[in-house]
Amino acid sequence: MRCLVTGGSGFIGSHVVDKLISKGARVRIFDMVLPAFRHDVEFYHGSILDLEALRMAISGVDVVFHLAAIADVKDVYEDPYYAEAINVRGTMNVLEASRRSGGRVKKVVYGSTTWVYSEAEGAVVDESVPLHPPTHLYTATKITGEYYCFAYSRLYGLETVVLRYGIPYGPRARDGAVIPIFVNKALRGEPLTIAGDGSQFRKFVYVEDLAEGNVLALKSIAKNKIYNLDGNEKISIRQIAETVREIIGDVKIEYIPARPGDFSGKEVVSQLAKEELGWEPKISFREGVKRYVEWFKETQDKLGVTQLDLNKT
Ligand SMILES: NC(=O)c1ccc[n+]([C@@H]2O[C@H](COP(=O)([O-])OP(=O)(O)OC[C@H]3O[C@@H](n4cnc5c(N)ncnc54)[C@H](O)[C@@H]3O)[C@@H](O)[C@H]2O)c1
Repeated sequence: MRCLVTGGSGFIGSHVVDKLISKGARVRIFDMVLPAFRHDVEFYHGSILDLEALRMAISGVDVVFHLAAIADVKDVYEDPYYAEAINVRGTMNVLEASRRSGGRVKKVVYGSTTWVYSEAEGAVVDESVPLHPPTHLYTATKITGEYYCFAYSRLYGLETVVLRYGIPYGPRARDGAVIPIFVNKALRGEPLTIAGDGSQFRKFVYVEDLAEGNVLALKSIAKNKIYNLDGNEKISIRQIAETVREIIGDVKIEYIPARPGDFSGKEVVSQLAKEELGWEPKISFREGVKRYVEWFKETQDKLGVTQLDLNKT
């Protein structure tokens, strides 16, 4: 099977690439940046805003995993106009290029987010819960992408699957998220700061578990459907700090007053993915953080070597 992964140089996409290759698929990446994590994969350089470039990249492909996006809410906030182009028109282009493949593309898997539930009613949500108009532009663009997928399925018979990812963590994660921030601070011997009493919980999903969920979406039952892929452990901010302290060593945990309006978190149920795809997160939070710390240290060591080499020249 030949697969195209848009955004295959990014955090989640690169793990989807690894997982697909490990299962024997032939993989091609379409991205604006070179894949830094492996060099044995076919790479098409381009923007998803360029329909013709996408059409070329999609030729001969059976399944498209669409993960290219402006994925950081801060980036969306700072440049909503650009983010809308990539997340909305870019998604339309991926669907359109797949449609124009003349039936060669059998399925498009779309990487969405559990953030689409932010305004939904109830503390516990699954795929059947009606969505309400989002307050953040990021969520608005991701929901629009979902709607385009459903419309392409209905109108043109293009099979699509929407995967709503929970908060991912693991090797190659962006620096700005809570786990990377705590790990970075702990390794520098700086205290870990918690706003409030630290009891606010989140569920996190290890990025390789997410990648596995993407591969399982190839199953024939996953046709024009939505699946939540979220972690199964509720982890409080205090637990994150304590886990990082346990793994890295003695580091202070400090508490500061709570920030007004901190999102308390909804419980997203991933039962459908378990029943239909046989998907369940396998990596415990402690093991996932341990793997992240190992990767982070290795990367820092490599960077240190590079810096030394540069200093010599
Ligand atoms: N990281 C999260 O917290 C999170 C959570 C839920 C869902 N998601 C979704 O998962 C997907 C992947 O997110 P990620 O965290 O791996 O993000 P990322 O930023 O690490 O990766 C996105 C990739 O898309 C590429 N890209 C951006 N614009 C492009 C363009 N115009 N043409 C081609 N490639 C382009 C980037 O170069 C990058 O490699 C996104 O759709 C995102 O919305 C992310």
